[in-house]
Amino acid sequence: MPRRTTAKQNTKSARPADTLLAWYDVHRRVLPWRAPKGRRADPYRVWLSEIMLQQTTVAAVANYYREFLKRWPDVHALAKAPLDDVLTVWAGLGYYARARNLHAAAKVVSGEHNGAFPNTFEGLRALPGVGDYTAGAIAAIAFDLPHAAMDANAERVIARYACIEEPLPKAKPAIRAALQALVPEKRAGDFAQALMDLGSAICTPKKPACLSCPWFDGCEARQRGIQETLPVKGAKMARPLKRGAAFVVRDAGGFFLLQKRPEKGLLGGMMQPPLGSWTDAFPSTEEAMKQAPFKANWKKRIGVVRHGFTHFELEIEVYVAEVKRRPKVEGRWIRELQAAAIPTVMKKIVLHGIG
Ligand code: ADE
Repeated sequence: MPRRTTAKQNTKSARPADTLLAWYDVHRRVLPWRAPKGRRADPYRVWLSEIMLQQTTVAAVANYYREFLKRWPDVHALAKAPLDDVLTVWAGLGYYARARNLHAAAKVVSGEHNGAFPNTFEGLRALPGVGDYTAGAIAAIAFDLPHAAMDANAERVIARYACIEEPLPKAKPAIRAALQALVPEKRAGDFAQALMDLGSAICTPKKPACLSCPWFDGCEARQRGIQETLPVKGAKMARPLKRGAAFVVRDAGGFFLLQKRPEKGLLGGMMQPPLGSWTDAFPSTEEAMKQAPFKANWKKRIGVVRHGFTHFELEIEVYVAEVKRRPKVEGRWIRELQAAAIPTVMKKIVLHGIG
């Protein structure tokens, strides 16, 4: 079979980690947070990138990462920044609790650890917003400690490699154990990143490129021809649908009214146009008028704005009004959507209102 392999990969005795690391040395991606070959990345950069990459893609993160580093080149700078500034630059990345935890963790590292990130899994795990995955990733990548970083990609690769057929999430402990057994004593950081690259380029959810895989020989699911069926996913919970109304108002100067959400809870502390309550049905126009922030000539826009959250789907009908003079209501009037901490869903609502 025409496969590119190194002499080492053909050696039966090569450890799976060595095979993967040899592949990584040739095929590693160049990423903004990655240290050059043979070097170890600054823990601040590793931590920042790993928090950003939780639930988000590499492509979505790159520009945010650069902007954060430009504004806050070290953990002390980030700790000193006002939370609202951090939320503003974070806006669009989603899962805003991550930005709050990022800021809280920066304060801990700057204030309690003199700016030095903890160099143990447990120390890292104790920081706000750092779970098992992130603590493992930082321990491995920034400190080269023999820890695993098990995210959904690593889970997929290992479920296939070790042919774990039990459905998720029950299979997690078995996958974790199989992964930990593969982590090498040396170059654990490269191993973690190699697994990420393998999951992204080769061992993809659909149609994995097994012929190009450094683990072609050792992969048990591939040997049995069932790699594409793994990991087996448990039944997905249907996401409930919530509906409501939003009110987009513009003044004569083209400024919009935005209000701050409560600090706690979904999209905590972020800005939004005035919104009514979310229930299982849209309010009638009459009900919506009762929810409006003030009396005006509100007109309902055609269509709805849809947005998927982790645990529910949201549909919003948008009412718009123009006012000559700003009514006395709580909130900020802004013209530039980038200038405020406005989450994507709220941007969609404003844009639907003015579109
Ligand atoms: N996904 C999560 N962490 C990552 C990293 N450090 N590099 C690439 N993809 C990732």
